[in-house]
Amino acid sequence: MSEVPNIHVALLPSAGMGHLTPFLRLAAMFVHHNCHVTLITTHPTVSKSESDLISKFHSSFPQVNQLHFHLLPLPDSASATKDDPFFLRFEAIRSSSHLLPSLLSSVSPPLSSFVYDMTLISPLLQVADSLGVPHYILFTSSATMFSFFSYFPTVSASLPTLTDVEIPGVSSIPRSSIPPLLLVPNSLFGNIFNEDSPKLTKLHGVLINTFEELEAQSLEALNGGKVVKELPPVYTVGPFVPGEFEKEDQRGAPMKWLDDKAKGSVVYVSFGSRTAMGRDQMREIGEGLVRSGSMFLWVVKGKKVDREEEEEGLEGVLGLEFVEKIKERGLVVKEWVNQGEILDHEAVGGFVSHCGWNSVVEAAWYGVPIMGWPLGGDQKINAEVVSKRGWGMWNKDWGWEGESVVKGEEIGKAIRKMMNDESLRIKAAEVKEAARKAISVGGGCEVTLQKLIEKWNKT
Ligand code: UDX
Repeated sequence: MSEVPNIHVALLPSAGMGHLTPFLRLAAMFVHHNCHVTLITTHPTVSKSESDLISKFHSSFPQVNQLHFHLLPLPDSASATKDDPFFLRFEAIRSSSHLLPSLLSSVSPPLSSFVYDMTLISPLLQVADSLGVPHYILFTSSATMFSFFSYFPTVSASLPTLTDVEIPGVSSIPRSSIPPLLLVPNSLFGNIFNEDSPKLTKLHGVLINTFEELEAQSLEALNGGKVVKELPPVYTVGPFVPGEFEKEDQRGAPMKWLDDKAKGSVVYVSFGSRTAMGRDQMREIGEGLVRSGSMFLWVVKGKKVDREEEEEGLEGVLGLEFVEKIKERGLVVKEWVNQGEILDHEAVGGFVSHCGWNSVVEAAWYGVPIMGWPLGGDQKINAEVVSKRGWGMWNKDWGWEGESVVKGEEIGKAIRKMMNDESLRIKAAEVKEAARKAISVGGGCEVTLQKLIEKWNKT
């Protein structure tokens, strides 16, 4: 741990647990390196899980004088847009960005650097530039996804006719793995990619929650100028490790349930913080889990998981009789769970995951084999990173949500394969070792953090 008391980093995450969690883990890393951290966020009531995590984070650091919190006000239009917490958060940040210079010029010790979310390049770039300190984005997905993001303007016009996207230096990305929203001409997402990607050259760098052994080829292509010549440096600051602050005060029901299960015998099933499947698919998953022959812990999320409205009970979705049947072999929970603790439990032998990047890195950290079931966004690209590295697999024919229903028999077979494949387990152990090495003294993450801190110390 270095003695650099005067470094002060401001962090500004975007909405959603998939963005807030990595930012808080990064904040914890900076605090452990004796930096001051100012965390800027919007009014927390837009999401209960987010506000819970922020307050746990706040109270778990004894060095409170090193941590500073600022809430940006919600825009006047907040109530009108209350239905969409992502949009609400985005708007809040956009409409309050003019407050940042005065806020950040008065912090003590003076600001050394500013790290903001990858989705906030356009709303924040000008303000970030005016602060007079180096500024970076935290790209909360994989380096491979980042290569696609930075290369996007080069191919966006020809996307309707392309079958594969050949990113120089990175293996080709099949059309079927491209986030579907980007394939629609002039889509909101496509426009954001087109607008934000050329602005990457104005950043001082891009921080990514990954490590060399996980995405060596993509990282080499990115930092070697093969993808886009003028890209700023890509810094590998991963793997982000679930922090002490995420620990539950009491062991929850899932952990107690896992305690008496045999080592490596349980399949953990979760599709991230907000991805929900349709009812028919849910029933088939239940059927598949029962057929897999393994015990299972299944975390179910509703579409409205980020909000506080009451949701339909699980019995309403699956039917009471079906829930009773499932109970013989597994535990189904609807609440927020501590995924890090679950993956760390020795009873867990496999992870059915949507391959959100945080989940992928957590599975790497705990050495758990993955059966990927990517549904949207960056997830297919991430699933490919996992299967290329050999500690997981995914079935490319399994469709996007709503496209087709994958039958329980097929799901059961795929889970059995994951649970019985020794080669996945061997690779998972290798990836785990590499992840641990990356954050140890002299490892990639540690060296990168030291380099950044030294650089900020000089500027
Ligand atoms: C999304 C994208 O899928 C991801 O790739 C992107 O970069 C960020 O936004 P999300 O779909 O939520 O994220 O998935 P994931 O990236 O896996 O993040 C979810 C986080 O919430 C993980 O850290 C996971 O451990 C945590 N989680 C989720 C819990 O701790 N408990 C839960 O019940 C559900």
